[in-house]
Amino acid sequence: MTLGIYPGTFDPMTHGHADVIARSLHVVQQVVVAVAPNPRKAPLFDMKERVELAKIATKDLPGVVVEPFEGLLVEYVRRRGAQAIIRGLRAVSDFEHEFQMALLNRKLDKNLETMFLMASEEYSYLTSSMVKEVASVGGPLHDFLHPEVAERLKTQLRLTQS
Ligand code: PNS
Repeated sequence: MTLGIYPGTFDPMTHGHADVIARSLHVVQQVVVAVAPNPRKAPLFDMKERVELAKIATKDLPGVVVEPFEGLLVEYVRRRGAQAIIRGLRAVSDFEHEFQMALLNRKLDKNLETMFLMASEEYSYLTSSMVKEVASVGGPLHDFLHPEVAERLKTQLRLTQS
């Protein structure tokens, strides 16, 4: 069984993330979506909610498991017995940060590979932060998020803005 780990903050999971997961299933048999705490980014949703929303967004994709992880990514990948870390690349602007992360992870574990997949051009502009901005001013979300995730985002923003 080939296993890939797709780590991220997923605040919340977008169609762009789901597209990368679907593509990675052409290469590995199972994908673990590993939701990171990432306090640096001060996520809108807490860890439990982000896991729940990622499960909703990937429920139609066979071979996908969503779970939280804490600590060093390379240790988690080793513990999970995975073959590779999966990351999506949208545009050249992603490259520098992704390149640094991949090389750092390789330094921490020389046997670990990072596999980059190109997101569909349809989603190449999409980030969770931009989706939250659109949602915060009442914009339409159907092109970006699973409908249930969109509803949860609207509710969460109402709660935090009141
Ligand atoms: O969705 P993001 O915010 O781009 O994901 C970043 C993430 C969670 C993959 C990265 O911050 C990470 O791997 N965090 C775990 C701690 C770690 O191992 N850091 C060293 C590699 S950057």
